[in-house]
Amino acid sequence: MVTLKPGPINVGGLRLNNHLLLAAGILGTTGASLARILASGAGGVVTKSIGPEPKAGHHGPCVVTVDGGVLNAMGLPNPSSGFTRELEAIRGQPVVVSIFGGNPEEFATVAGWFAGNAAGFELNVSCPHAAGYGAALGSDPAIVEACTRAVSRLGLPTWVKLTPNVTDIAECGRAAQRGGATAIVAINTLKAMRISTALRRPVLGNTFGGLSGPAVFPVAVRSVYDLYEACSIPIVGCGGITTADNVVEMMMAGASAVEIGSAVMDDIGIFATIAGDLYAPDGEDPAGIVGCAHA
Ligand SMILES: Cc1cc2nc3c(=O)[nH]c(=O)nc-3n(C[C@H](O)[C@H](O)[C@H](O)COP(=O)(O)O)c2cc1C
Repeated sequence: MVTLKPGPINVGGLRLNNHLLLAAGILGTTGASLARILASGAGGVVTKSIGPEPKAGHHGPCVVTVDGGVLNAMGLPNPSSGFTRELEAIRGQPVVVSIFGGNPEEFATVAGWFAGNAAGFELNVSCPHAAGYGAALGSDPAIVEACTRAVSRLGLPTWVKLTPNVTDIAECGRAAQRGGATAIVAINTLKAMRISTALRRPVLGNTFGGLSGPAVFPVAVRSVYDLYEACSIPIVGCGGITTADNVVEMMMAGASAVEIGSAVMDDIGIFATIAGDLYAPDGEDPAGIVGCAHA
């Protein structure tokens, strides 16, 4: 297996301790859990998505395991501006605040609350199961550009997390870049559902949800590959990563760093495990493998 030289890296305006970040929505709801993940070997963390108003989320069931992955319809539950307190104890660490809103003004408002505590922002324009938010905005390149511009003008690193539930993800990537994004994150979950044959009803309380985990890895690799061809800002790969070899593959598609979500549910020590396999003192220069699968 390819191994990489260890050490801090700079991606999209952020200094990270290594290439592995916690993805939004998994253990990102308290300062204590974010600190725990950083201490366990993650190079950076992304918070749960925070929005303009406190939100309870969808009624359950909200998360179910399926073959090869996880299906969730959390519905973006969050404490809104109250979350600023959670981040005070980890200020100065590589903490990316994930934010959502219903329009550019709401994105700017939420970002403003966190400007003193965040190392950077990740714009969630990609959640597939929250009406009026997420992918409802992120499927329209003009809206992606406007939301990105509203946050990037604050001057902090601005990452934009894209949905794979579109015909051409590259078009949305170019829109984020025009809006001033410093990096693109790909991908959020794939819109999906399951039906209980015993109950003759959808399994999730919200009917539809988002699929994540190993089943989506090939979609994520393809998305990163497409974006690398279309954009000149760094790409952060996300979706289905469970091993160090997955990280290398994602980097060869074009990712400069990766985020890991569902795998944390199975193994809280996943960052240390992957880092142990990925890094070696005589490893390759990481920059040399980014995008190397492109002709
Ligand atoms: C339970 C759960 C909650 C999530 N919440 C968020 C969220 O709040 N914001 C967001 O941008 N993505 C959210 N996601 C998507 C993940 O950050 C990630 O993009 C997706 O799960 C694919 O990566 P993975 O296969 O490594 O989990 C969530 C995923 C899961 C499973």
